[in-house]
Amino acid sequence: SVHSGTKKLTAMSLAGRRGETPIVGLTAYTAPIAAAMDDKVDFILVGDSLAMTIYGESSTVGVDLDTMIRHGRAVVKACKHACVVVDLPFGSYEASPEQAFASASRVLMETGCDAVKLEGGTEMAPTVAFLVKRGVPVMAHIGLTPQAINTLGGFKTQGKDEAAVEMLVADGKAMEEAGAFSIVIEGVMESAAKKVIAATNVTTIGIGASAECDGQILVVDDVIGLFAAFKPKFVKRYASILGDVEGAISDFAEEVRTRKFPSEEFLFGAGK
Ligand code: KIV
Ligand code: NA
Repeated sequence: SVHSGTKKLTAMSLAGRRGETPIVGLTAYTAPIAAAMDDKVDFILVGDSLAMTIYGESSTVGVDLDTMIRHGRAVVKACKHACVVVDLPFGSYEASPEQAFASASRVLMETGCDAVKLEGGTEMAPTVAFLVKRGVPVMAHIGLTPQAINTLGGFKTQGKDEAAVEMLVADGKAMEEAGAFSIVIEGVMESAAKKVIAATNVTTIGIGASAECDGQILVVDDVIGLFAAFKPKFVKRYASILGDVEGAISDFAEEVRTRKFPSEEFLFGAGK
């Protein structure tokens, strides 16, 4: 397993892993949640999904580079073990390889993270190669790429017909050839994910893809049951902490309104 006690994991720890103990990934956006998972996962993604989980947006399109850097820095500070990957947000890398390097170098320098992730397939391959050759480890992201929601027409499963599967396989191969150290495959038919795995030797991380991927990632707010606006089919909830949060808030409100809180134990020199 890549999970090895206190040894710091990096992009290179995950690179080239095939068919071993699956790699465990989760998103984190804040220091306390990152600290809670640091010794339990192999990598942490500071995902632009924070637009939805934290900032209440309906897509990931509206988050900027400064916001990603601020959250990335908080997560890196909390981590001694896990490899930390930070998403490049929409609009910060697509225009040119030079734009991507300017954004990626800011992310690496200002957060201290291990790698960046960007969305796209064959069209982004020259950019990935440009970054990797200049010292930026890149995790690729193909299939359902949420930053493209406005051209995809919604969060729709990808790889549904033969032409789409061919494109997905070409995307995976292009990212491997460009030097991506791993590829996230999101929201695709299982058979399509398997074709990408078979056609490449790069480390694959699935989210709604296939159990045959070399690792899996989910959004932590989904896993702990904090994000409840909707649940994609690929999400498994391992806890439902939103209920606990709501319960604690209701109890506090009730006790304030009935003057039960604060009782003497919470006051300085009360009753004297
Ligand atoms: O932003 C994110 O959380 C992601 C994962 C779902 C892969 O990109
Ligand atoms: Na993302």
